[in-house]
Amino acid sequence: MRGIDRIVVLTGAGISAESGLATFRGPDGLWEGHRVEDVCTPEALARDPALVHAFYDARRAKLGEVEPNAAHHALARLDAEWPGELLIVTQNVDDLHERAGARRLLHMHGELKSALCAACGARHPWETPMGNHPPCPGCGQSRLRPDIVFFGEMPYEMERIDVALERCDLFVSIGTSGAVYPAAGFVRTARHYGAWALEMNLEPSAGSVYFSESRMGPASELVPAWVEEILS
Ligand code: OAD
Repeated sequence: MRGIDRIVVLTGAGISAESGLATFRGPDGLWEGHRVEDVCTPEALARDPALVHAFYDARRAKLGEVEPNAAHHALARLDAEWPGELLIVTQNVDDLHERAGARRLLHMHGELKSALCAACGARHPWETPMGNHPPCPGCGQSRLRPDIVFFGEMPYEMERIDVALERCDLFVSIGTSGAVYPAAGFVRTARHYGAWALEMNLEPSAGSVYFSESRMGPASELVPAWVEEILS
């Protein structure tokens, strides 16, 4: 780990699993009883807005019942103590990283606690249900949708992420299956520009062969141990 200054950390649903939030690709292939395509596409929202809103309203409400785990806290510690550059890119739409205290963080797939107005394009912090069609605080129209990047839509802040990946010395992937692009391709970009790449996951991800090093196990054990290692 000598000579490392710039770090990019990518997290996925696996980091929140031990907090009690379901991953997307569980053994039954369903996310909280639904196919991802039925609740996570623009077509699904157009076809059955009541279902999509009910689904995300339930996910948002569930955040009140869960807490950050040791892996979120360890990354928040890294954020507070790492003197070099750090960017934590999460695919997760929960708020557990920020509740643990992480600041150098971006949500590439959007956030449950945010509303996106389909009329004016503004994003607003949002805590309450959206299925009852509340008006947009900006334009007043009742066309708010979950601020979630659906399949077929462009993830947030890709330019910033690409620059960080090209500059980083170390790329770390935690709790993601490597099934969804563009995040699944980050390891290859980072390696191409010379970074060391470390994967921490319960099982080898789809892109496991591209990593320099893989550590298999629960994030709540692996991540605190790695943070301790890199900070000492
Ligand atoms: P997945 O559900 O596809 O993968 C979760 C990964 O975490 C799996 O490889 C599990 O083995 C691993 N895992 C589970 N529990 C773990 C634990 N305790 N410690 C470490 N690893 C664990 O979730 P993502 O890869 O995050 O997109 O899914 C990517 C995207 O697909 C999501 O952001 C979502 C979904 O469609 C959107 O919502 C836009």
